[in-house]
Amino acid sequence: MAYDLLKGKKGIIFGALDENSIAWKTALKVKEEGGKFVLTNAPVAMRMGKINELARQCETEVIPADATVEQDLINLFTRSMEILGGKIDFVLHSIGMSPNVRKGKDYGDLNYDWFLKTLDISGVSFHKVMQAAEKTEAMNEWGSIVALSYIAAQRTFPDYSDMAQAKAVLESVARSYGYRFGKKLKVRVNTISQSPTKTTAGTGISGFDAFFDYADMMSPLGNASADDCANYIVVMFSDLTRMVTMQNLMHDGGFSTTGISDEVIAKISR
Ligand SMILES: NC(=O)c1ccc[n+]([C@@H]2O[C@H](COP(=O)([O-])OP(=O)(O)OC[C@H]3O[C@@H](n4cnc5c(N)ncnc54)[C@H](O)[C@@H]3O)[C@@H](O)[C@H]2O)c1
Repeated sequence: MAYDLLKGKKGIIFGALDENSIAWKTALKVKEEGGKFVLTNAPVAMRMGKINELARQCETEVIPADATVEQDLINLFTRSMEILGGKIDFVLHSIGMSPNVRKGKDYGDLNYDWFLKTLDISGVSFHKVMQAAEKTEAMNEWGSIVALSYIAAQRTFPDYSDMAQAKAVLESVARSYGYRFGKKLKVRVNTISQSPTKTTAGTGISGFDAFFDYADMMSPLGNASADDCANYIVVMFSDLTRMVTMQNLMHDGGFSTTGISDEVIAKISR
């Protein structure tokens, strides 16, 4: 059921790779709620993924941009305003990648060039996106900017490796830029800390199935799905959440505040 929550709003959605991507599901929900947007992803993802299929479905365009390249981002905001015919009300940063994780490097044997790449792609890029938005004067007052995080920013999940540091950077950038954008334009900036989700980025973490099942067992509501996450993002883009900013919002079925669950006790009891 649609509520027209985003009627008249314009935005940019980063990170739709295939139909499992959280950004893909979000694009479909945003369209359903009346929002207009352009899609973007790294040039390499254009070749690997199916983003053009999504663009056809959403009757929109794709603007390639590497989120670590400032000039790409300036071009993205400038072109988006031309295509959408005005300034931007919402931005979704749904980007994550660690070369160390992808190549199976042990946490005690990290390649530091790759570590910096992880931080740049998955954390610093959030700052770059907002700086480009500010420099191009792209944001409307009372706009909303959301990035996706994971609880490994606060608690250790060994296989998450250097992505844990990247998520800590991401959440910190949300607070610092949230202050700045709030003062300047009443734009709010938040991160949503999502349950493990079966996507390309998620399943790239070794031991993902165990992560997923453990979190599901520990959460009184079970894991939040990508569709549930898309719904939450829509609410965060809507005028119903105008005073929420600089927060890391847990979207995890209760995982983060559960000490132990009956299911986990049953599993480990002899
Ligand atoms: N899947 C999970 O378990 C889970 C849990 C919590 C948070 N998240 C976060 O959700 C977000 C979306 O991931 P997903 O799970 O939908 O997986 P996904 O693989 O579908 O999306 C990740 C996206 O990042 C894009 N990307 C990588 N490098 C880029 C660059 N240089 N410039 C622009 N885009 C780039 C990829 O092309 C891809 O579209 C990520 O931030 C991820 O860390 C995922």
